[in-house]
Amino acid sequence: MTQYHQLTDSYQRQFTYLRLSVTDQCNFRCNYCLPDGYCSDTAEPYLQLDEIQKIVGAFAINGTKKIRITGGEPTLRKDIAEIIHLCKSTPGIDTVALTSNGYKITQLLPRLVEAGLDQLNLSADSLQAENFHLITGHNKLQEVLNGIEQAVALGIKKVKLNAVLMREFNHHELQSFIAYVRERPISLRFIELMETGDNKDFFQQQHFSGAEIQQHLETNGWLQVLREPHAGPAVEYTHPDYSGNIGLIMPYSKHFCASCNRLRISSHGNMHLCLFAEEHHKLRPYLQSESSDQLAARLRDLLTVKKESHDLHQGNSGSTRHLAMLGG
Ligand code: 5AD
Ligand code: SF4
Repeated sequence: MTQYHQLTDSYQRQFTYLRLSVTDQCNFRCNYCLPDGYCSDTAEPYLQLDEIQKIVGAFAINGTKKIRITGGEPTLRKDIAEIIHLCKSTPGIDTVALTSNGYKITQLLPRLVEAGLDQLNLSADSLQAENFHLITGHNKLQEVLNGIEQAVALGIKKVKLNAVLMREFNHHELQSFIAYVRERPISLRFIELMETGDNKDFFQQQHFSGAEIQQHLETNGWLQVLREPHAGPAVEYTHPDYSGNIGLIMPYSKHFCASCNRLRISSHGNMHLCLFAEEHHKLRPYLQSESSDQLAARLRDLLTVKKESHDLHQGNSGSTRHLAMLGG
């Protein structure tokens, strides 16, 4: 019988959530992430289904309950439905989520839901078609918004819309974003622009503080939701007049890392203990030779070297050049 464990680190944080990147390739050119488009720097293949199975099995043994499939753009993989199905049918995993840029989500979603998808995050950094095009390089706003409506209609319990507000491009759209969740039972997430290796100058020019959005919400009747015991770092708000809620991801705020509950695996099978860590840990050499139990023990060992916090405040984003590498 399988013996279940827990993944904990030296700071008493418990990790029940895995973000699994299945490709670093992306077809969008978001100005803060891949302004010049995706460019591969390795011939190494992405994780195959059997490798994903071994990794997910090991995490499940270690008490992982939720898996988010990320990219790059994960739906560029032809076997995305199989990946979702595999995660969902692993004993111990109760929630499978997907983060996508949404470029062809309406075509895919029914099949992904059938495969076991529980939660969906899409991104729209603007609610104006032209501005969306300017920021992402693609004229796909309507497809993304249709995807949101479809996800709600299909009964997906948690539907989220991510937006990164920037000084010059879209912070003037704050009000329209908020209005978007008045009648829609979804969660709008403002993700504060993060500095990465490749966007240093852009970050300096465009960073818009999450604290400013927070202040705006609080002076306009939004109320902070009490945190659940193992909730992640997002700060959640509700409003009596709105069907949807708003979450803030503020990596530059104090104590952000204290509630860290997630670990990351790259599409080449590297374990990243933090989005902004300097080093990663290759799992691929062990995937064929070790059982999920052996791999699970290896993961528990690795957790002992997880650091207390990132060094973003010192302008140090580790070895992360852009978030397409790890899916945020
Ligand atoms: N800072 C903040 N958010 C980012 N994302 C990608 N790169 C960055 C960055 N540098 C966001 C995308 C998407 C989510 C997966 O990560 O906009 O919503
Ligand atoms: Fe945009 Fe995400 Fe693609 Fe980066 S990985 S270019 S943020 S859609």
